Order: sequence, then C-alpha cells, then structure tokens
Amino acid sequence: MLKGKKVLIIGMMSERSIAYGVADAMHGFDANLGFSCMARFEERIKKMSQPWSPFMLNVCDVSKDEDIEKLAQDVAKTGKIDAIVHSIAFAPRDHLEGGILKNLTREGFQTAHDISVYSLAAVTKACLPYMNDHGAIVALTYLGSSKIIPNYNVMGPAKASLESMVRYLAYDCGTRGIRVNAVSAGPVRTPAASGIKNMGKMLTRVASCSPIQQTITTTQIGNATAFLCSDLSSGITGEVLFVDNGYHAMGVVTDTLTEAATS
Ligand SMILES: NC(=O)c1ccc[n+]([C@@H]2O[C@H](COP(=O)([O-])OP(=O)(O)OC[C@H]3O[C@@H](n4cnc5c(N)ncnc54)[C@H](O)[C@@H]3O)[C@@H](O)[C@H]2O)c1
Repeated sequence: MLKGKKVLIIGMMSERSIAYGVADAMHGFDANLGFSCMARFEERIKKMSQPWSPFMLNVCDVSKDEDIEKLAQDVAKTGKIDAIVHSIAFAPRDHLEGGILKNLTREGFQTAHDISVYSLAAVTKACLPYMNDHGAIVALTYLGSSKIIPNYNVMGPAKASLESMVRYLAYDCGTRGIRVNAVSAGPVRTPAASGIKNMGKMLTRVASCSPIQQTITTTQIGNATAFLCSDLSSGITGEVLFVDNGYHAMGVVTDTLTEAATS
C-alpha cells in the first residue's frame, strides 16, 4: 500500500508511542521511513528504528523555529518525501488534573497550543517545498476536542484548534493534491497519556462502553494512518477519522453491551 513512499514520522519516543504503532504498520506496508524526535530520545530512536533502515533521523524541538528550519533542510537533503505524520502533543502536567480552571495559566495554555497545534502548521509550511505532489499529512487528535473529557482540560481546546488547522491546511495544500487529515484515536496508555489523571479508569470505562468492547491498539491506529497516507484515500482530505472502536458514536450508555445482550 505504501511501496515507494517516503514517510516522515514526528513524535516517536518509545515502543508505547502511537508513532511506534504507525511506523511498525507502515513498515509492514513497505513504506520508507524517516524520523524526527527530541534530542533526549535520539539514541533510543536510533536503536529502535534500526530494523526499518530509516532514510533520516532528525532532532527537533518544535518550540524552536531554528529546529523546524533544520528539519526542513534535513528533509531536503534526502530528496522529496511523500507524507508526514505529526504525532506530538504537550501540556504542563499540572494542567491535566482537576477542572480546566484549577491550574490554568496563560503560559500553560500557550505551551499546549504551541507544541500541539502551531507545530503542525509550522512543520507543514517548512517541509511543503520538499514534498511530492499528491502526498499526505496526518495529525493525531482526540475526542476531547469536541466533548468534555475530565482532566484533559487545556488539551481539549488545543485539539479543537488542531482539527480546525487540519481543515485549513487541507485547503492550502489541496492545490498540489496534498491531503491533510487527522486520526482521532481512542485512549492508549502511552508516555504522554500517562500524564493524564485517572487514565487507567478511563481506559476500562471506554472499552466497556464502546460498540467494539476493546481498548484500541497502536497497530489499529497505525493501519488507519497508513491508509490516510496511501493512494487508497486519494479522495479524503480535511477529515477527522475516528479510530476508537466506535466510542465516539455512543450517546447515553446505561448498560455495557454485554450487560444489555444478557439482560
Ligand atoms: N495516547 C492517547 O490516548 C491518545 C489518544 C488520541 C490522540 N493522541 C495523540 O497522539 C499523539 C502522540 O501521543 P502519544 O499518546 O503517542 O504519546 P507519546 O508521549 O508517545 O508522544 C508524544 C510525543 O510528543 C513529543 N513532543 C512533546 N513536546 C515536543 C516538542 N517540544 N518538540 C518535539 N516533540 C515533542 C514527545 O517527544 C513524544 O515523542 C499526540 O498528538 C496525542 O495527543 C493520543
């Protein structure tokens, strides 16, 4: 499905990262992979990605303009790429517990939006000259953009902004046939998610209240991301694709489906 495609994956920090599931799935579909990560994970990512023989490994802190510029230069050195996967988010840990007002600061709000949203636009702007026409960009988002998720707090407005950004970028990039979409993943216990209070409870609850009563896997998220980066999705842009075992489609949950079926 991705044979001959060069895909840059930004935001892998461990084997539990969604980006790892994406990389593993895409490798399975014969993509040629490149990576960008924060400096403190460079050695780990170098080792982890070795089996995939990456075409590049860049170090980038997306809060720094010069790092984003260097990322684009590193991409240019490898020739053109076909797709970018943006799998980055950050909010100060104290902003991810209690109500949204509890520890809210201007700085925390700005940081969440800078790292989790602006970075998508900035990386797209910098790398676009080095992308092939008819390529694809995919960002990772979450249901907290449009529904209240306790403890998600400032990341909710950040993901709403990210999804809006996806649509505006789809418009800009559409002239070159480059598609921009988001995958809205169900909750997964990743390094970033472990900063969210009561994550364990949320995983159990979501699995029991979803039409498919299971926790989503990074492989499932990776497969959907691979689809959105492939020519199979050539008519899809500006879209948010839920990969959450259907949880987003539920209204009121009185019984879990197992209880309903047996009552
Ligand atoms: N885990 C979930 O439940 C879940 C659900 C839906 C969406 N997502 C989204 O998936 C994406 C990946 O998150 P994850 O859950 O795999 O966690 P993760 O911790 O594995 O990945 C987050 C990545 O963001 C990177 N990052 C943070 N600040 C950065 C900066 N300044 N510059 C460069 N990189 C930076 C980290 O290094 C890390 O690699 C995020 O956008 C997240 O919001 C996660």
